[in-house]
Formats: sequence, structure tokens, C-alpha cells
Amino acid sequence: MYRGVIERYRAYLPVTETTPVVTLNEGNTPLIPLPRLSREISPLLTIYAKFEGLNPTASFKDRGMTMAVTKALESGHQAVMCASTGNTSAAASAYAARAGMSCFVLIPEGKIALGKLSQAIIHGAKVLQIQGNFDQALKFVRQICDESPVALVNSVNPVRLEGQKTGAFEIIDDLGDAPHFHALPVGNAGNITAYWKGFQEYLADGKSTRLPKMLGFQAEGSAPLVTGVPFEKPETIATAIRVGNPASWKGAILARDESNGLIESVTDDEITEAYRLLPKLEGVFAEPACAAPIAGLFKLARRGYFTEPSIVTVILTGHGLKDPDYAIKASTKLGESIPANREAILSAMGY
Ligand code: F0G
Repeated sequence: MYRGVIERYRAYLPVTETTPVVTLNEGNTPLIPLPRLSREISPLLTIYAKFEGLNPTASFKDRGMTMAVTKALESGHQAVMCASTGNTSAAASAYAARAGMSCFVLIPEGKIALGKLSQAIIHGAKVLQIQGNFDQALKFVRQICDESPVALVNSVNPVRLEGQKTGAFEIIDDLGDAPHFHALPVGNAGNITAYWKGFQEYLADGKSTRLPKMLGFQAEGSAPLVTGVPFEKPETIATAIRVGNPASWKGAILARDESNGLIESVTDDEITEAYRLLPKLEGVFAEPACAAPIAGLFKLARRGYFTEPSIVTVILTGHGLKDPDYAIKASTKLGESIPANREAILSAMGY
């Protein structure tokens, strides 16, 4: 039976035989070919989506959270805390519940998707909405966890990145080698840092023959890694990546430069367009932040960035159902209202 990323990749993770593993059988997410989207973007590309929305709490955060809560439990903590744009809080609250620990989450008021908020609440976390943004929330969480017996489970905790790097292992295990390009949305920059670490570790271990170029994408209104300066007031419809001063700034820049990749931005309009296209073309529904790398691939292809046949992996970090409000808002058509009779229905169907 599959028992989660810690059991599967134990040899690569900081755990021992006696570590009390807290798992929801996260990971083992499908790498889904996207042939129709690939054709739209560039005939040179074979694109696969790693659908991290199919994790137990419907985002990639579960990989890091199984490690963070496991280590918090091992070291005798009774409570965990995080700042979040939503997904981290959903994962933290679920894993804390599973471990029998308390969970405190600090979120920016009015700026997290409803699905994520409902998760934190239903798992019994103490949810505190601050009248501020994610960056401010993270600053407080760091201070409070320093001063109190509460374990910090944001990705500034290095064990989170250890768990998250397993996504890179799974991609190589599935493809038989690393992709040529690896695209993902970037917010607090933990994930790009973790993936780069995973790709490097597997190469060093002889499991792959190459390293991908890392392609990170931020939203234009929240793109500190592109401009090189923190954003005081980050704004984007992709609330998951509304981060003005990423904690893993250095890790992201290293991943970009060592891989000879890039970190660029896309506009909210480009994100929305890609967000609508993916579920229509491929039957895969991901939350708005995940559309940033897809919009980014369109942008790079348009300017001739890709010059030879290449395999591209895109991380779809969270499920579309996390943010149903935006799906409705971004749609040009809602369900038509018609009289309750057969003729009206057939006529509306075009028959
Ligand atoms: N995509 C989604 C759906 C996210 O929730 C996040 C981050 C990212 C991408 C960016 O990943 O921060 O590692 O660069 N969400 C964090 C949170 C900030 O609090 O849930 P990153």
C-alpha cells in the first residue's frame, strides 16, 4: 500500500526509524500529458502537468507539511503555526489535526480563497485574519514562534523544502529522466527552491542524466523576483502568489541562475486567459496561480525562446475547486435560466 512521500523517499529525508510519521498518503500525483495545450503553445513542446491539486488537501503544500508536522511532533511540540495565502494553512490545519496538535494560522483578511479558508476552519485551526498582507503575517509568525513553544511550519522551516523536493523525484521516476524545462508559479519561493534541490539530488544519485532549466512565473503586480525589489503592496487575482517579499528569495535566484533558467512575470489578464483555457482544452481544473506558468509558456513561445523539441513539466500547485468564486467570476457565461419544459431545454441545446 502507498504510504506517502516520507515512506517512499525515506532515504532522501531527515527521518529515522523512530520518527513518528504524520501522513495523509500525500504525493504520488499524476503527471498528465497536455497534448492539446502543447499544440496551442508550440509544436516543439511536449508538456506534462504534475497535478498537485490531487493531494489530500488539494495543493502541493501537503508534501512539505507531512515533513514539518512530523518533525514538530518528533521534537515534542504541541502546536504549529503558519502565515498563509491559504493553501499552507489548509495543509497545516489538516496535518495538525491528524497529529492531535493545535494549529494557529495567520491570513490576510479578505484575500484568501473560500475553499482554503473553509479547510482551515473545518480542521479546527484557530484562524486569525490580520488587516495586512502575507508578508506582514509571516513576520509576526516568525517572531511569535521564536518566542513561544509553537513550531513554525512555513517554508522558512527547512524541513518543508525537504518534503516538497519529492515532487522532483516523482517527475524523474515517471519520465525516466528530468524534463528539459520545469515551469511553476512563484510566490514565497519555497517550491522553486525545493524542486531545484530535488532535481540536483536525483542527478547526483544517478537517477537522471540532466537538470531542467527552471522557469518561474510571478504575477506582474506581485513580481519582486523579476524587478529585484520587494513589493510593499502586492496585488494579483492569483491570491495564492500575492507575496511581496519572498522568504526564499535567494533560493529562487540560485535555482534560476544555476539552471540557466528565468523568472518572469505575466499579467492578471494573461493568467485569467490561461486559467480558462486549461480546463476547456484538457479537462484539468487548477486554481488561478497555476495558470501563471501556462501563460508564461505562451509568452516564451511567442518570442521564440524554445528552439528545439523539448519536454516541459508544469506544476499545477492547487486544485481549481479551492477558488470556485473565481471560476464563476472569470466565466463569460453562467448557466442560462430557462423555463422548465422540454422544448425550451432542447431549443437552448441548439436542437
Ligand atoms: N501556487 C499555489 C496554489 C500556492 O498556494 C503557492 C503558495 C504557490 C503557488 C507559490 O509557491 O510560495 O513556494 O513560491 N502559497 C503559499 C501559502 C504562500 O501560504 O499557501 P511558493
